[in-house]
Amino acid sequence: MSRKFGVGVVGAGAIFPSHLQAYKYLSKRFRIVGISDTDELRLRQAGQKHFLPVSTTDYRELLARPDIDIIDICTPPGVHARIVKDALQAGKHVISEKPLAPTLAEVDDLIEFAKQYPGKLSTIFQRRYATDVEKLMRLKDDESLGQLVGGTFNRTARGAFVQNAKNWGSWKMSGGGTVMTQFVHELDLMCLVYGEPATVTATMDTVHLDIESEDTFAATIRFKSGAIVSCSSSTGVGKSGVMFDVVGTKKVHRYASKSDDDGGGSGLARLQTLATKVVTKGGDKIKQKLGRPTKQKGDGGSHRPYFEAILKALDMEQPLPIGPESARHAVELATGIYTSAITGESVAFPLDASATYYSGVTAEDYRSRARTTESAQNLTAISGRQAG
Ligand SMILES: NC(=O)c1ccc[n+]([C@@H]2O[C@H](COP(=O)([O-])OP(=O)(O)OC[C@H]3O[C@@H](n4cnc5c(N)ncnc54)[C@H](O)[C@@H]3O)[C@@H](O)[C@H]2O)c1
Repeated sequence: MSRKFGVGVVGAGAIFPSHLQAYKYLSKRFRIVGISDTDELRLRQAGQKHFLPVSTTDYRELLARPDIDIIDICTPPGVHARIVKDALQAGKHVISEKPLAPTLAEVDDLIEFAKQYPGKLSTIFQRRYATDVEKLMRLKDDESLGQLVGGTFNRTARGAFVQNAKNWGSWKMSGGGTVMTQFVHELDLMCLVYGEPATVTATMDTVHLDIESEDTFAATIRFKSGAIVSCSSSTGVGKSGVMFDVVGTKKVHRYASKSDDDGGGSGLARLQTLATKVVTKGGDKIKQKLGRPTKQKGDGGSHRPYFEAILKALDMEQPLPIGPESARHAVELATGIYTSAITGESVAFPLDASATYYSGVTAEDYRSRARTTESAQNLTAISGRQAG
């Protein structure tokens, strides 16, 4: 029989329910032994609601338990590194939410540290395992798309999501706004699809949210392969969604996510979802009456395929997927976007320890960009008056 792995989760905030959903679906293979959060109210609510055996404000209590094999980090990015190191040192497998850390310097430090614990650290980029992305990678790998020449990637996020998260948009805790915390999924995907980036030019601003970092950005990335990709994202807007076009010489692969506002997608897709719900509910009621076990509702959510990949690696005693080197690409690309948007210059990759924002962007750095934007606006006004 397959082994069951004990899990300790650190951080009971906004993303925790998605992890819980996947663990519940895979309950034959995972058992959440304990949860830790420094916020006592959140901790109590999570522990009691989900009947978790151990609740603690000090995550080190989880590290000391022999019945915990995996530490699952769901804290803000600014505190990932300390917990990753402590957990690896305690002999645990570690899965950490994205981005691995908010700065390139911290990511590189973790890459070095994790070399002592090969294959035990993974970053949660669950989008890599989504059906649409797997399909895209198949089309790319079997060359159905032809040579990739360009593309467009876009993400939007609803207002409520952002307002509920405490550290959202903090340079220190989150590493920035929409680029580092949300669009980082698409940056990761772009590196998978197009390979190494060559240059980026970008612009960003805090157009409407009350946060210290950017809520909107747009950029053009040139990859070493020659492909030119445009991308943008905005947060705190009317609807959440992701869309992309990957443009090849033979085919263009187009993807648009279902909206989370209207329950989803085309009329047909919505009917199918509704039909599945009705059938599942009806079937479960009959099974309950007959005293038979009901199947776990739903499909385990967006994180489930990633957790299955973790299980596969553990079962086969192989390195966990998405190790720290692999997780670095998206943080490097995000840092390049920030550098270009602040300096107004095109930025060349790769970025190493000599890069201007290697240790991250500060609120002061960002304000200096605001002055550049202001002077650009003044220049436009002046040239407009001159033309008039
Ligand atoms: N993969 C995805 O699709 C996805 C989506 C949203 C968020 N995330 C990531 O998940 C992580 C958490 O984001 P969130 O939105 O849930 O944040 P959040 O602020 O809602 O929750 C974070 C929780 O961590 C707790 N915490 C902070 N420091 C701690 C410590 N030292 N020990 C224990 N608990 C601590 C906080 O009290 C809080 O309850 C981030 O890395 C974020 O980027 C991933």
